[in-house]
Amino acid sequence: MPYGAGARPDGAISFCREKPYDVGRRRALQDETIRNSKRLRKLYVKSFGCQMNVYDSHRMTDLLAREDYAETTAPADADLIILNTCHIREKAVEKVYSELGRIRKLKHEAKRAGRNPVVAVAGCVAQAEGEEIVRRAPVVDMVIGPQNYHRLPALLAQVESGAKVVDTEFPLQDKFARLAPATVTAIRARGVTAFVTVQEGCDKFCTFCVVPYTRGTEVSRPVATIVAEVENLVRAGVREITLIGQNVNAYHGEGANGRPATLSHLLNRIAKVPSVLRLRYTTSHPRDMDENLIAAHRDLAILMPQLHLPVQSGSDRVLAAMNRRHTRAEYLDLIARLRATRPDMALTSDFIVGFPDETEEDFRDTLNIVDEVGFAGAFSFKYSPRPGTPAADRRDQIADEVKTERLARLQDRIERHQRAFNRNCIGRSLEVLLEKPGRNPGQLVGRSPYLQPVQVMAPSSLIGEIATAQITDVGSNSLFGALHSMEARAPALAGTGG
Ligand code: 5AD
Ligand code: SF4
Repeated sequence: MPYGAGARPDGAISFCREKPYDVGRRRALQDETIRNSKRLRKLYVKSFGCQMNVYDSHRMTDLLAREDYAETTAPADADLIILNTCHIREKAVEKVYSELGRIRKLKHEAKRAGRNPVVAVAGCVAQAEGEEIVRRAPVVDMVIGPQNYHRLPALLAQVESGAKVVDTEFPLQDKFARLAPATVTAIRARGVTAFVTVQEGCDKFCTFCVVPYTRGTEVSRPVATIVAEVENLVRAGVREITLIGQNVNAYHGEGANGRPATLSHLLNRIAKVPSVLRLRYTTSHPRDMDENLIAAHRDLAILMPQLHLPVQSGSDRVLAAMNRRHTRAEYLDLIARLRATRPDMALTSDFIVGFPDETEEDFRDTLNIVDEVGFAGAFSFKYSPRPGTPAADRRDQIADEVKTERLARLQDRIERHQRAFNRNCIGRSLEVLLEKPGRNPGQLVGRSPYLQPVQVMAPSSLIGEIATAQITDVGSNSLFGALHSMEARAPALAGTGG
C-alpha cells in the first residue's frame, strides 16, 4: 500500500523517559493499578477498514475497561472478541466472514476447556447485515452497529443471560457523550499520535458508497467536547492529533457561541491547546474545502502540509455518474488554490476503477489526472457493487478482467509519482515526529510533515519529540534520515509549549 492517509497500525510504545506528568495523572495510574488487581476479563478487538474503526475500537476498549475488561492481543485467551468491521467493498466483508470461521474454531476449543467467550460483530457490516450475520455465522452472539457502542455493557449483560443480541438502531442519544474517556495507560500504550472523531456519517450519497447507509447522516460533535478530548490525550503524552470523519471538512459542530463552527474554526481552536505539536484531518470532500480551511494551511504552523482529497475519477462523465458534485476542472482549480496557499502541500487521493460504463477514454482521464496533480500517494480500488447503492443496480457493470487490468495500470502510475515525491526529499531536512521503535535496533520511526514514515537512528528517549532529519535515502515505504543535533531544535520546541 502506498504511503497515504490510510489507517496506521498503532504499535505499542514504551516510554523510556519519564515526562513531567502531574500528580493527578500519577494518581490516575495508581487507581488503575488498584482496579487491575481485581479479576480482569480479557478483551480482543480487531479493527478492519478505516481510521474511524480504529478510533471506535479504542473507544469500545476504553468503555469496557470500566467493566474490568483488559485488552489482549491473543484471541484464544479472550473472554470477549469484537470484530469491528468494514462494509465498504465486498472484499472487506469477506475478510470478516473468514475471520469468523477462525473464531468458530477458537470458541470450540475454549468451550472444551470450560470457557465460553462472547463473540461480537461491530461496525459497518453489523449495521448493514444485522441478523443475517447470526444466520450466516451462528458463532456470533452480538451484532452492534456503530451508533450503539455506548450500549455495549447492557448488551453484554443480555448475552450473558443467554440471548443473542442484534442492535443496529440509530438512537437519538449522543453516543460520544456516553463513551468513557481513555485512561492515561491506554493513551500511552497507543502512542504519541491519536485520532479524534469529530464528525460521523455522510450526506453526499456518492452512488457507489454504502457509508450514508451504514454510518447514517452527518453528525458533528461540539467543539468543547472535542477540545476536552484533545486535552485529555495531550496530558498523557499525545503530540499529534488527526481529526477524523467520513466527510471531515463538512464539520459543523456546535461552537462556543452555540452556533455551528466550521472545521477551520475547530483547527484554530485546537491549535491553542498547549503541547499539541501537529494537526491533521481526514477524509475531506473537494466540495467542502472552503477558503478559510485552505487559509488555515497557511496560517496554522502546526497544521501539516498534507491533505487526503479523494477525486475517485478523472473523467467528468464518471464523476457525474458517481454523484461527486464537482468536475475535473473544479478539482484541479482547488488543487491550484491549495498549492498557491501552501506550495509544498502533499496531496493524496482515492480512486475507483471500473465504475459502471467507464470507458477506456474515461480511464485515461483518470491516469492523466494522476500526472497532472502529481499525487504523493493514493489508494486505488476496483469498483465493488454494494447492495442498496444506486450504482450496484446498473446493468452496464464492467468485467472484472478489465477492472484488474486498469487497476494495475493506475497503481503503476501512482507509484511512479509517489517514488518521485519521495526521491525529491533526498537531501532535504524534514521535521520528524518520532513515534516508536523502528525496524532495526537503535532506530526510531516517525512521520515527516507529509506523513511519510522516516527511519532514523535515535534513542527511545526522543519518542514524542520533533527532530530534524536530513533525508539520506528512500526505501519502498519509508525514508531514511540522519538526525540533526537536538540542541539546535530546543528553542523551537520551547515555543510550541511542548
Ligand atoms: N467500490 C470500490 N471502492 C469504493 N470506495 C467506496 N465505495 C467503494 C466501492 N463500492 C472507496 C472510495 C473511497 C474509499 C474509502 O473507498 O475510493 O474514497
Ligand atoms: Fe461515501 Fe465519501 Fe461519497 Fe460520503 S463523500 S458517500 S463517505 S465516498
